[in-house]
Amino acid sequence: MHYPWWHVPFLTAPMLIAIISVLHVVVSHYAVGGGIFLAAETRHAYKTNNKSYLAYLKEHAWFFILITVVYGAITGVGIWWTIGLASPLATEVLIHTFVFGWAMEYCFFILEIVAAFIFFYFWGKLSPKTHQLTADIYAFSAWMSLVIITGITGFMLNPGSWPQNHNFWAGFFNPQFVPQVLARTGGAFLLTSLYVYLHASFKVKDPELQNLIQRRSARPALLGAIFIVIGGIWWYLALPESAKYALAAASVLNVLMVLVFALTAAVFIMMYLGPYRNPGWLSPGFAILFFACGLAAVTTGEYIREAVRKPYIVYNVVMSNQVLPEEIPGLKQNGYLEGGRWTFAWITGNYPQAVDSTTIDENKLLTLPETDQRKIGEVLFQYHCNDCHSAENGFSPVGHMIRGWTPEMIKTVVEHPEKSHFFMPPFCGTPQEAELLAKYMAGIAPAHPRGMNYGLER
Ligand code: HEC
Repeated sequence: MHYPWWHVPFLTAPMLIAIISVLHVVVSHYAVGGGIFLAAETRHAYKTNNKSYLAYLKEHAWFFILITVVYGAITGVGIWWTIGLASPLATEVLIHTFVFGWAMEYCFFILEIVAAFIFFYFWGKLSPKTHQLTADIYAFSAWMSLVIITGITGFMLNPGSWPQNHNFWAGFFNPQFVPQVLARTGGAFLLTSLYVYLHASFKVKDPELQNLIQRRSARPALLGAIFIVIGGIWWYLALPESAKYALAAASVLNVLMVLVFALTAAVFIMMYLGPYRNPGWLSPGFAILFFACGLAAVTTGEYIREAVRKPYIVYNVVMSNQVLPEEIPGLKQNGYLEGGRWTFAWITGNYPQAVDSTTIDENKLLTLPETDQRKIGEVLFQYHCNDCHSAENGFSPVGHMIRGWTPEMIKTVVEHPEKSHFFMPPFCGTPQEAELLAKYMAGIAPAHPRGMNYGLER
């Protein structure tokens, strides 16, 4: 609320983060798993002196670098841009808390890139031993990036004892850390096999080499699926209470949760029966199907992880709508519009008659023409609710949810959103501001659908 609002129509800003993050995550996991795969497989190829496998691995390394270093790095920066704009307060808290975490992350990232380039561009120019070492360095540093980022994203879901002691390591080694490292490492292995299949099914014509690739790369996927299931269950057990309730209360999350496990199981079975036991099966079509299942599982998993954090963006630390819990009593007392730097400036610019140097008289706002009151209500909505709801159309549109509601019903939800649904943050403003917001909402609520009043008077 102390930052200007970034209004993303239709989608809402956090959903834009979700889209860009998913585009990144499906590649960043491959960056980790693919590194481990390349390191293990070049070792195997050198040991067995398999020239054609080595040649394939070089070709795969090129594909790998193009996807992970170019596309992966661009989407990674894209996440920073979007979270900084969509959730500035939460981003600020993460940067302040984990400044050394990010520093470590950047060190590993540089190591990773340098090792990847040496591994690829010096292929055949280094002794097998040195070449192998660059692959090992790459694999280790890529996995360490995963570990560090997981410490930080896990913190957002369950910061453990950090809110009490503000200890860096307590925040980093939060209850979500180990299960997520396990599940993400599993995801990295699984996705890697799918990338390898996709690539090999188009590129490799020699059946013998195809069989070798399929059999070798099925193993990480089988192991990965087991890691995902163990990590996933552990993740659930380590959730804070209210996140578990959120998972139980939302039917869509129930369905998605089942879907993640079902997709992982389906990939596991197909992988075992297909490439592992009968390597000849793999065709481009099968590889694409596999790949799509893998992407769906990862996307669904990330969606659930994000969804259960409500009403927080950093659990117990920052509310979803960019308010700190400790700010709420003051905002209820003095007003949301007055408390936020940008809302205050906006009111001062547009309705100076309601402003007395540092305070806003909300009663005066309620004497403005109806259209102005709704306009102010809309600003309150954008700052206060737009993190989770679009207004009339788009993601979770409030207008449609309150179709046919009476003004009293709207007012009750506006005054106590946290009582209507425990995963909404409480209203952080004065009763007058609640009235302004309720007026705006009543203005966007469509009528009850015709013919659905069951013969009752309305
Ligand atoms: C942290 C995210 C979040 C914020 C912020 C939020 N809501 Fe919600 N709200 C939800 C979710 C989730 C639902 C459940 C509907 C769904 O599943 O899409 C919901 C449901 C609702 C409903 C339907 C209630 C019902 O009984 O079915 C209304 C009305 C509503 N919100 C209004 C608001 C208003 C007004 C604000 C701002 C003051 C707000 N919400 C802020 C997440 C949020």
